[in-house]
Amino acid sequence: MPRYSITTFGCQMNVHDSERMHDVLRCAGYTEAGSADEADVLVLNTCSVREKAEQKLRSEVGRLARWKRERADRVLVVAGCVAQQEGERLLKQMRAIDVVVGPDNIPELPGLLGDLAIGGLPIARTVFDLDAPRFLVASPPSSSPRAAPTAFVTVMKGCDERCSFCIVPHTRGPERYRPSDEIVAEIAALVAAGTREVTLLGQTVNSYRDPLGALPRAPGASADDPDESEFAALLRRVAADVPGLARLRYTSPHPRHLTPSLVLAHAELAVLPRHVHMPVQSGSDRVLRRMIRRYTRAEYVARTRALVEAVPGLTLSTDIIVGFPGETEDDFAATLSLVREVGFKGLFGFKYSRRPHTPALKLPDDVPEGVKGVRLARLFEESEALLAAHLSALVGTTQEVLVEGRDKERGHGGAGGALWSGRTGRHEIAHIDGAGELDLLGEVVDVSITRANKHSLQAELTEAARAAARPRQRGLEARPGRRSLPVVAAEGG
Ligand code: 5AD
Repeated sequence: MPRYSITTFGCQMNVHDSERMHDVLRCAGYTEAGSADEADVLVLNTCSVREKAEQKLRSEVGRLARWKRERADRVLVVAGCVAQQEGERLLKQMRAIDVVVGPDNIPELPGLLGDLAIGGLPIARTVFDLDAPRFLVASPPSSSPRAAPTAFVTVMKGCDERCSFCIVPHTRGPERYRPSDEIVAEIAALVAAGTREVTLLGQTVNSYRDPLGALPRAPGASADDPDESEFAALLRRVAADVPGLARLRYTSPHPRHLTPSLVLAHAELAVLPRHVHMPVQSGSDRVLRRMIRRYTRAEYVARTRALVEAVPGLTLSTDIIVGFPGETEDDFAATLSLVREVGFKGLFGFKYSRRPHTPALKLPDDVPEGVKGVRLARLFEESEALLAAHLSALVGTTQEVLVEGRDKERGHGGAGGALWSGRTGRHEIAHIDGAGELDLLGEVVDVSITRANKHSLQAELTEAARAAARPRQRGLEARPGRRSLPVVAAEGG
């Protein structure tokens, strides 16, 4: 049986796409290789949202040319956003690549590999499924007793926004939505198999509407607000139809669709955790206008404030770009003041980079690289201070943690042997000490916070949680999640 290996770059959507490639390849008779060296087929699932991400692919392919030369029948596949963006060009530029496959063409991957195996030429397949959009569903776990505690479910794909810096409309195409019946059925099946938390995925996830018109209008939804969507109605339907679900997250929303109906859903649905990632990009109205974000700073502040007022204790995290064309010291100061004003508890910061096919190419990239670096460092300083104060204030409190798996980062203590980790309802990472003899996977447990680390919390089970926990049994391990816990901070200088 041919063996494959997948390397993933980029966002959660790419992680999800990689999981679907695993399914598609396994169904076609491939087995997963222990390492790239043992693989016959190597897939690079790529990201092109920033220049740095795209450069990673180019250096990786350079490295893999040698891997390919070692055996004539080895196959190198490039998938994801760079595949979609470059298509045939990649085959011409980098001779080591055999197959280029776009995000909408994942189901065709085994067929493309089959053609190649019988002597076909290198091929690129990057066609959007505009007329009959396909949303790939996880194949149910067959060989394992329990599904992973957390799972992604796609609700929409593509993007109709035209943010001037962003390549996503080009790499992921126009917005296409999935019927709510299908979404609910997938979540119900996951929960029946043991999943506790679902993250709804979409490039502008809260612009969702049901393509079959099957959702009733959500409370608080206004018929004549152009920013209104059916996302709040979808959340309500999932909450009502899948009562066994412990947590329902979503990413990434656009602030424009943070409407009163969505705020009300957060206030009323206990299944929605008290954390939302809401990309703002800049705190300067002048820059926001040039970015074509379609909201002002004051609107962003008012909308997120309404959310925090409706759900006391809710935390926000965000994405910010520094050094967008024309960004002055005053504009950047406005971003810093916004970070303080909103009090973000997590922040992904990026230096602006010019991307092909984006409207901002018309603007000169006039903020020097060094200045971008200084601004990014300043931004992280601010956000780290906010996070540190937040995490320290949690020491001594009791929090509910959904245990996602064994801790990858040993060395934090872990007196009881295996150390479990998971996330609180507000998405803080919590490492649980001294519970090595217990089976906590997929459990929502009460812990007391013993210490604040730089980006995470250290915790211990409460007495009651310890008394209620299952002892660990050999042979009952869940399918290991393909994902490790993402880190909070982002790209440095
Ligand atoms: N340059 C820098 N950062 C970018 N992002 C998107 N496009 C660019 C670009 N051209 C950032 C945004 C977005 C995140 C996923 O990546 O902050 O929210």
